[in-house]
Amino acid sequence: MNFKFSTLLIFVGSFLFAQTGGGMWIPTELNEKEMKKMGMNISAKDIFNSQKASIKDAIAHFGGGCTSEVISPQGLLLTNHHCGYSQIQSHSTLQNNYLQDGFWAKSMRDELANPGLTATFIIDIQEVTSEVLTGENTTDNVIKENIKTIVNKTKKENWQEAFVKPFYKGNKYYLFITETYRDVRLVGAPPSSIGKFGSDTDNWVWPRHTGDFSLFRIYADKNNRPAEYSPENIPYKPKHFLPINIKGLEKNDFTFVFGFPGLTDEYLPASAIEQTVKTLNPAKVEVRDEALKIMDAYMKQDQNIKIKYASKYASIANYWKNMIGVNQGIKKSGAIQIKRDYEQRLLNKIREKCKTEKSERCVQYPSMIEDLNQLYQKIEHYNLAKAYFDEAIYRNSETFRIALTLSDLSKNEGQVSDEFRNRVSDYLKSLYKDYEPQVDKDVSLAVWNLYKKNVPAEFQPDNINITAEDLDTSIITGGRKINQISLIENPKLFLSQGNLKEILNADPLIQKIKAIESAYSAKASPKRISLQNKIDDLLKKYMKAQMDFMQDEKKFFPDANSTLRVTYGKVNGYAPRDAVYYDNTTYLKGVMEKYVPGDYEFDVPEKLRSLYAKKDYGVYAKNGKMPVNFIATNHTTGGNSGSPALDADGNLVGLNFDRVWEGTMSDLYYDPEISRNIMVDARYILFIIDKYANADRLIKEMKLVK
Ligand code: ARG
Ligand code: GLU
Repeated sequence: MNFKFSTLLIFVGSFLFAQTGGGMWIPTELNEKEMKKMGMNISAKDIFNSQKASIKDAIAHFGGGCTSEVISPQGLLLTNHHCGYSQIQSHSTLQNNYLQDGFWAKSMRDELANPGLTATFIIDIQEVTSEVLTGENTTDNVIKENIKTIVNKTKKENWQEAFVKPFYKGNKYYLFITETYRDVRLVGAPPSSIGKFGSDTDNWVWPRHTGDFSLFRIYADKNNRPAEYSPENIPYKPKHFLPINIKGLEKNDFTFVFGFPGLTDEYLPASAIEQTVKTLNPAKVEVRDEALKIMDAYMKQDQNIKIKYASKYASIANYWKNMIGVNQGIKKSGAIQIKRDYEQRLLNKIREKCKTEKSERCVQYPSMIEDLNQLYQKIEHYNLAKAYFDEAIYRNSETFRIALTLSDLSKNEGQVSDEFRNRVSDYLKSLYKDYEPQVDKDVSLAVWNLYKKNVPAEFQPDNINITAEDLDTSIITGGRKINQISLIENPKLFLSQGNLKEILNADPLIQKIKAIESAYSAKASPKRISLQNKIDDLLKKYMKAQMDFMQDEKKFFPDANSTLRVTYGKVNGYAPRDAVYYDNTTYLKGVMEKYVPGDYEFDVPEKLRSLYAKKDYGVYAKNGKMPVNFIATNHTTGGNSGSPALDADGNLVGLNFDRVWEGTMSDLYYDPEISRNIMVDARYILFIIDKYANADRLIKEMKLVK
């Protein structure tokens, strides 16, 4: 290939990239022209306007982790079933099992309060970079001071909050003014056999058939302002709520997703991605593999264990499956080589420019990538130790996690307050609620063996091995009682023992975990942190260099950081592998194809089966078929759960809840060929509310558009 031809290819490639290259954009800085070209009918100001009502006034950060949106003039709030899961669970009892059977409040009076649950709206976003970065190399302390000053002088109402966050790896800063409502009540949820249909087997998978939604309502004081829960509170009157499109979208239609993506790393050098894919993910997956295998075997044998471990299993499996998908996607997309070539092009441009330019950046930039590569090499075995420590000692063994907590307590005994002791006891109580000593013993021994085998010896204490006997005889597993008090049965009483420190110090398991933790903390952590700080400094420069030199190749959006973003794309299927093509929409027919009577993942409620048999879909069907889920090229990540998918006119058409497995590497590298977000079709949500739950009082609140 001659030079001109390859430059042309790069140029064409980057043109395509600009069209469909993903991106999570700050809503005050949208590329309106491009969005309109792709089919949007509204303006950027309709999406975000701090001066008058706009779509952003319907979008709320839900509990700080998910997204939700207002869909009625009375503060009705839509989010995912998996986002409302713990609230639905907390109201469930054996008699009223809302997780299993669903929940539909008959009237506003029956809507259920959820202490601690919040809904946060964004009032305004302003760039404040020049006030935060006041000098050439502003130090962290000066940055902190500058941020404090900005926050203090920000004009806001006394029920509002203000904070500043870094973007583009610290090259830019933005100020946020927010309003947080604290009386958010549960209104409705389908049974898990709809809301969590397909469970772990279908998680991260397309084709998908899940009705992953639940309904809440925001309540406000009589002035429509945030207030703690009170029976006197009234339904919140939003500045804007989303009308719902019941015509649906077709392939290639424009759509955008508006929400709070949590964390991405799109601007890492190839060497960092290589380390994640070749070393760190396999280590984490290996530990989780062991833990999941053991839990699964017990869960299959014993219904009681199955219930106790369902949620733990799901939470370990979620990112286990994600990491496997990331690794496959990085490989399939060739992301590492693509990034290497990109680095080379960047370096060439820098060298060319710096032939004539004499500046600080020309001193720093040319060596930056090589310096990063070397630092990543140096940090690798520290990162590996951290991966094993996090996964084996902290994440997957509950016994070890309890031991860590208790060894902390024993270190500080004498100085700890009653309040702290109570907190520890509550924490232990919550861990012990679903704890099976035998299951956790097997998991603990298995993950310990991986730790011992794989963590570099220099980070481990000498001659320490954790044995079955240590686990059997520990107070943690109930192997020992002190004065007849069992730690499992009564953490509070146990922790108030006068000679607690002695008791903890006499427990071999706790002592061993303490030694393992001390060795790791002393020998691996400090070095890792200091290397990571150097890496972060360089990543900030690397980000800046990319923005200085690569603007002609691609447009830069900041990595996700749990702030409000817009991503846009088109409804489209994809080819997961050779000769296979996945369509963009699934239908109720597919739910029935997956139906396994009585199965914990694929059961289908009788009523839904009968609605299907009668094709009783109301106004929500399309050509006699009931759409369930659909996919598009929107660039989303964790935290976008519950985000609205909107049509060209800003009406709700879908509810984001997942991504396709082949494309999960989009947190590191977005590939328009295989990265897709998964949404529940709004019509399926309405059909379930209307026809399945007969909750027409809720439908009446909404505004449906055809
Ligand atoms: N994968 C989705 C997300 O990351 C859904 C997770 C909840 N569902 C589950 N089966 N674990 O959060
Ligand atoms: N299920 C994810 C969440 O809870 C969203 C899926 C994703 O990571 O894209 O936010």
